[in-house]
Amino acid sequence: MSENAGQPRRVVFLGPPGAGKGTHATWLAQQGAMLHLSTGDMLRAAVREGTELGSQAKQFMDAGKLVPDALIIDMLFETLSARGGEAASGWILDGFPRTEPQAVALDERLDAKGEQLDAVLLFDVDSDELVERLSSRLTCKGCSAIYNRRLRPPEVEGVCDRCGGNVVQRADDEPAAVRKRLEVYADQTAPLIDYYDQRGKLLRIDAARSIEEVRGAVLRHLGIGHTETEH
Ligand code: AP5
Repeated sequence: MSENAGQPRRVVFLGPPGAGKGTHATWLAQQGAMLHLSTGDMLRAAVREGTELGSQAKQFMDAGKLVPDALIIDMLFETLSARGGEAASGWILDGFPRTEPQAVALDERLDAKGEQLDAVLLFDVDSDELVERLSSRLTCKGCSAIYNRRLRPPEVEGVCDRCGGNVVQRADDEPAAVRKRLEVYADQTAPLIDYYDQRGKLLRIDAARSIEEVRGAVLRHLGIGHTETEH
């Protein structure tokens, strides 16, 4: 996979639950194209490891609510400091920011280093399709690989193709939590679309298309060369 000199290096993936942010960010990271930093994956790891942060976050996550800004901002910035330099070609934030205070905190942090976000990719999908995707999603507890019961099941049921870990349904993919997450997205995260549009950062992707078509659009927006057919 080839890079262009003008390739965006600091990128946010924005969009509702189930829009495909994790699917495409994971794929890019597997190709060695960019570092993938997912606040959802970090929180689920903290819950699994039984840390103080994990025990504070779990009740919010299981109910489909957002974890308080103060906890998330500290967690993300610590990870960015520790891992931000790992990928020469830059990073993708998946699931952050999700509120205006998170977006402002990110801008201020980058400003202080003389940096700025290069692009915010908005994954646009309607609610019916999101519910369908989330109710059939399966996730590896070991490496966070994403599967889909209908479209992309693991080769052996319940076992991750990549790491052999346990493939399960996430607690927050139960119907009541999915409905809550979609409401929370509309109320607290969707306003970031205007926030980034006004700053000239927003790039929209019609993410209701097939995974391969959406991948082509992501690669085009990121200026990363590839050999697949684009639509
Ligand atoms: P998080 O893990 O970030 O969840 P999310 O944003 O709700 O996003 P998802 O992981 O549900 O969706 P996705 O867009 O990554 O879709 P995916 O690629 O998996 O957050 C979980 C919780 O943590 C939050 O509710 C909150 O409590 C907390 N949290 C995290 N960050 C926070 C923050 N910043 N502030 C406060 N709280 C925070 O795809 C979904 C399914 O669809 C898969 O099965 C996939 O195979 C399939 N699929 C993908 N693309 C396509 C396609 N084009 N066609 C058909 N199927 C597709």
